Amino acid sequence: MKNLLQTVAPSVLALCLLLPHAAQAADPEPAAKANVVILATGGTIAGAGASAAQSATYQASKVPVEQLIAGVPELANLANVRGEQVFQIASESLTSEHLLQLGKRVAELADSADVDGIVITHGTDTLEETAYFLNLVEHTDKPIVVVGSMRPGTAMSADGMLNLYDAVAVAGNKEARGKGVLVTMNDEIHSGRDVSKMVNIKTEAFKSPWGPLGMVVEGKSYWFRQPVKRHTQNSEFDIRQISSLPRVDIAYSYNNVDDSSYKAFTQAGAKAIIHAGTGNGSVPAAVVPALQGLRKDGLLIVRSSRVNQGGFVLRNAEQPDDKYDWVVAHDLNPQKARILTAVALTKTQDSKELQRIFWEY
Ligand code: DGL
Repeated sequence: MKNLLQTVAPSVLALCLLLPHAAQAADPEPAAKANVVILATGGTIAGAGASAAQSATYQASKVPVEQLIAGVPELANLANVRGEQVFQIASESLTSEHLLQLGKRVAELADSADVDGIVITHGTDTLEETAYFLNLVEHTDKPIVVVGSMRPGTAMSADGMLNLYDAVAVAGNKEARGKGVLVTMNDEIHSGRDVSKMVNIKTEAFKSPWGPLGMVVEGKSYWFRQPVKRHTQNSEFDIRQISSLPRVDIAYSYNNVDDSSYKAFTQAGAKAIIHAGTGNGSVPAAVVPALQGLRKDGLLIVRSSRVNQGGFVLRNAEQPDDKYDWVVAHDLNPQKARILTAVALTKTQDSKELQRIFWEY
């Protein structure tokens, strides 16, 4: 027995001594990279100018998604990336049908087990509308990140490459799950609900009245707040149940305005009109009778504010909304109020229900 121990003990001891080193020697498996799909739709991020000095004069929607990805080889360090060219359109020309087609493709990808996050490259002109639409109708907690650029990739100090790098970093980051649709622009992470294009000539173009959710620096996300309004999985709206979006128009208010535009939109088939009012969403005396009549004819009237940073429209503030049965857009700007109203109209025509929806989304 003693001989057996003398023979076996040293090798067992040596094995015990070696094991921890053996564990250290075999580096831990690197975390598997996320699978991120980039859906390209056009815009300046896919734009090209004739020279590097042309940061403002260029043609949008020229560069295909494969070239966008090839232009940022560092994406491969962040995630397994593949691209799809959904459209190649300047975003001012996108229609409700484009939104529905894009939304349905996003839903299909989000349902796929081998997709961890989705990036959508997009023109900046209506980026905020697409981002809010998807925020309302995509039933997934996977990150969906919309991204654009203010300068074409051919320009000096082009911002698209880093914006795209940031978008892929966020889309592949588990911490971004459950935060609703996000927008990465100029190192910031914004909620698709809140963000809006405030400037049309600077790279710092996108702002949220209540601030960004976080920052991306060298591919790492830093989070400071969470959205509190309903979105994605907590939404009562679902892209898979929406086949069309009712017509909703925006009538801009200004000095000396009359009711012509409201009547024209009604003639064109609008089911609701967003009044882009001055200040508190105010309605000029010359327009009130027309809106009362349109409401009686069954049109929904939503008062929003044309002020471009944090409009805040409350019921019965300067207008008798209860008496006229009008809806207020709360802090949503006219173009976001239009998206929410169109989506809401796929479920209800009731003004009280629409007002609830504006408070909750
Ligand atoms: N035509 C505009 C658009 O596609 C260009 C603006 C941009 O993408 O920055 O939204």
